[in-house]
Amino acid sequence: MENAAKPLVSARLVERIVVGRATSDGAGVKLTRVLTQDLQRRLDPFLMLDAFGSDAADDYIAGFPDHPHRGFETVTYMLAGRMRHRDSAGHEGLLRDGGVQWMTAGRGVIHSELPEQNEGRMEGFQLWLNLSAKDKMNPPWYRDIQSPEVPEWRAPGVTARVIAGATHGVSGAVQREATRPLYLDLHLDAGITFEQPLPAEHNAFVYVYRGEVAIVGQTVPVQRMAILANRGDGVALAAGPAGARAILVAGQPLGEPIAQYGPFVMNTQAEITQALEDFRAGRLA
Ligand code: FE2
Repeated sequence: MENAAKPLVSARLVERIVVGRATSDGAGVKLTRVLTQDLQRRLDPFLMLDAFGSDAADDYIAGFPDHPHRGFETVTYMLAGRMRHRDSAGHEGLLRDGGVQWMTAGRGVIHSELPEQNEGRMEGFQLWLNLSAKDKMNPPWYRDIQSPEVPEWRAPGVTARVIAGATHGVSGAVQREATRPLYLDLHLDAGITFEQPLPAEHNAFVYVYRGEVAIVGQTVPVQRMAILANRGDGVALAAGPAGARAILVAGQPLGEPIAQYGPFVMNTQAEITQALEDFRAGRLA
């Protein structure tokens, strides 16, 4: 199927398939860390991707009580379930089925992310997007984008939900100048191919959460991340016989030093020390 304005001349290959690492975070939420710290340089400007999905309340009920962040943005995309966010900048929101929460921690925020359900499915992703050195100490920013407000591009057999960036002339809910993130949630019927042009310098990956896709003949199974090679003018995803759902994420690398200590991501160790001091002295709230 032809759905791109201009067909790709040379589609990117899969450089590597990544299996996530099962872990837990917050007060004991079970999740899979797909983009781990060792991939931060390769996938600059992205720092982390967690996938969570469970029908068992024990896996998520404890949630993420009050904790700090500084120096980057968190993007939470809820496929199913309800989670309440509250933060020290005075923002509060209920994130639910198909909705997005975009939080720019900037110079600092303390927030909680707590389930508002005792049973049923909780599924989604949290992506960490770095801020450039000049933006790390900006004031915090927050936006809830409820599911009906997430822009979509549709064609026969394709729904592309546009969380950030743009596809086929549809602009996403959030744009960022320094990192130019693209974040698409793709729902593809069996056998459908979706093409997305990408600047060659942008780092990009695909995570499949239903079915499977083929990228230039390489199968990417469910619950796997494909890191895309940078050579080429875009990506072509062909859904398998059962169709597929996948997120496609790309962005402009910052090329700056990354210093991380847990929920603080700065450029230097001295800035991390400062973040810890500020947190302990109550200057993050
Ligand atoms: Fe958080």
